[in-house]
Amino acid sequence: MKAVVRPARRDDCINFIDIHCPELRRHARKERLAKCGWWGDEEACVFLLRLYRGLGGEVFVAEVSNEVVGEVEVLPHSDCLLGPRAYVNVLWVKEGFRGKGVGRALVGEAVEWARNKGFEALDTIPEEGSEGFYGRLGFERVATQCKAMVRAGEAGGKAPAGVRGVHAQDVPAGMLLAAGTYRPGLFTWFAAWFDTFTRRHHPIAYEVTDPEVGGGPWVLLLDRFSRRGASAVVFTRGKPGCGEVEAMARAVAEAASASGINQVFIQTWREYAGALRRAGYSVLRVDVPWLSLRL
Ligand SMILES: CC(C)(COP(=O)(O)OP(=O)(O)OC[C@H]1O[C@@H](n2cnc3c(N)ncnc32)[C@H](O)[C@@H]1OP(=O)(O)O)[C@@H](O)C(=O)NCCC(=O)NCCS
Repeated sequence: MKAVVRPARRDDCINFIDIHCPELRRHARKERLAKCGWWGDEEACVFLLRLYRGLGGEVFVAEVSNEVVGEVEVLPHSDCLLGPRAYVNVLWVKEGFRGKGVGRALVGEAVEWARNKGFEALDTIPEEGSEGFYGRLGFERVATQCKAMVRAGEAGGKAPAGVRGVHAQDVPAGMLLAAGTYRPGLFTWFAAWFDTFTRRHHPIAYEVTDPEVGGGPWVLLLDRFSRRGASAVVFTRGKPGCGEVEAMARAVAEAASASGINQVFIQTWREYAGALRRAGYSVLRVDVPWLSLRL
């Protein structure tokens, strides 16, 4: 079985649902988007393709006998604390076509893409159960992340002192991603502001200007997955120390609560887990693997 890998076209977008969630094909759009994300809807996938290409990334699909059976989404990760690198954001092979070399072919294309762009490494955080797959392809665990959560108070009212509200156009370009989700920072930034498919609540963003708070200035994006729940994404000028992360984490909880958000998730490097605990966060995981392939 030979897979042909090529850049995705607009007319492939209708097929993404068959790769990710074929069982939802006949369901209402709202349900497809809620359960499967962008991949559940053709128009949302078109948005996704534009977002990738606008950020210098690419989406490749794999075809077997003219059927689209897998996809890989790659991005420059220029804001990574480990240094600039390329990043596999999503890799998915349709059930029934797994274990036949399709995933290997897709990652092979991602590697070529990253090399041609001049990157020295291609990284990813694997889905649970797929670390072994990446290991077979030569990826090694080079770092570990942690996930944490805080229940912010019910403060309401105005934002804490020393911060100013920022908007979509205040892109934190050239900054580093100190904490965030498992996606490169600018991808999350633009998705948070412009994705109207899977997000129903506007993000909230602040620049923290007070140097007493986490060594500012730094930028906080509260990417809301519900009215009162958000993932916190933190952009900094340099790699923060643990004391700075602790101060930032407190400010994140305060800013969230001032915006009526009472549950905040955060993902960052494991070395910061203690700082998060000291700031009152519950650490949910300390074993999220970060994999890297040297190119
Ligand atoms: C993980 C996934 C992309 C692998 O794709 P695939 O087409 O099934 O993988 P391949 O057939 O190309 O496998 C390549 C090699 O990895 C091995 N492999 C595949 N899945 C593996 C796993 N889960 N654990 C260990 N080894 C694995 C294969 O045996 C093969 O080894 P070999 O060529 O040396 O014999 C696919 O199973 C998938 O889409 N899973 C669900 C989504 C997911 O987990 N995505 C990863 C996102 S980060």
